[in-house]
Amino acid sequence: MVDTPSPKQAAGIAAAQLVQTGMKLGLGTGTTVAFFLEALAERIEKENLEVIGVSTSVQTAELAEKLGIPISDLEEYPALDLVVDGADEVDPEFRLIKGGGGALLREKIVAAASAKVAIIIGTGKRVERLGTTFLLPVEIIPFGYVTTRDCVANASGSTPYLRTTEEGQPFVTDNGNYILDCKFEQGIANAEQLHADLSQIPGVAEVGLFLNLCDIVFEGQDDGQVITLNR
Ligand code: 5RP
Repeated sequence: MVDTPSPKQAAGIAAAQLVQTGMKLGLGTGTTVAFFLEALAERIEKENLEVIGVSTSVQTAELAEKLGIPISDLEEYPALDLVVDGADEVDPEFRLIKGGGGALLREKIVAAASAKVAIIIGTGKRVERLGTTFLLPVEIIPFGYVTTRDCVANASGSTPYLRTTEEGQPFVTDNGNYILDCKFEQGIANAEQLHADLSQIPGVAEVGLFLNLCDIVFEGQDDGQVITLNR
C-alpha cells in the first residue's frame, strides 16, 4: 500500500512535474521545498534529466548536493527558467509573505531572475489579507539595527520583533543580516504601499512581501490531492 503524501509533500511532487531537461532551476528554501528536491532528485535519476540548480540558501544547497542535484550560481546562470519555492501566506492576488526560513533576500533575487515562479504550500497558508496569520519578515543590516527597527515601526504601523535563536542571540541570515518579524494587528491593508515605504528605509535589505512575482501555486491537501492555481 502506498502512503498518502502529506500536503507539503504532495505539493512538492506536483511542482517537480514542471521540470524539463535542460532547465536552469531556482531552488527555494524550507520544509516544502525539501519535498520538491526529493521528487526532483528521483526524476533526475529515473529519467536522466539534465538540470542545474541555483540555491536560495546554504541549507538548500547542502540538501541538493546530498541528493545529487547539480548546483551552480547566478554568476554562471543569471537567468533561470523556473524557481520552485514555499511561502508563508498567499493571498487571492497571488501576493506572498515569505521569509519564515530567513532566506527572503536570496529568494527574491532568484525569483526575479526566473521566467516562472511556482509556489508550493501545504494547507492553511491561503489568506484573504496578508499579515493576518504570519508576521512579515524584513531583512535588515546589523549596523544601526535599533534605529532601523524604529523606522520600520513608524513607517509601517506594525510592531517589529528582532528574530532570535533558541540561545537568545540575533538570528543571522546567510547574508550576515538580521530579521525583523513585523506584527500587523489588522493585517496589511496596502501591500504595494507598504513595500514601497519599507524599501526606502536605510538599513532595510529586503522586505518579505513578494508582489507580482508568483505565477502558479500548488496547494497540497490532506487527502494527498493538489489544487493548482494559475495566475
Ligand atoms: C524561507 C521561506 C519559506 O519558503 C517559507 O517560510 C515556507 O516554509 P515551509 O515550506 O517550511 O513552510 O520563505 O525564507
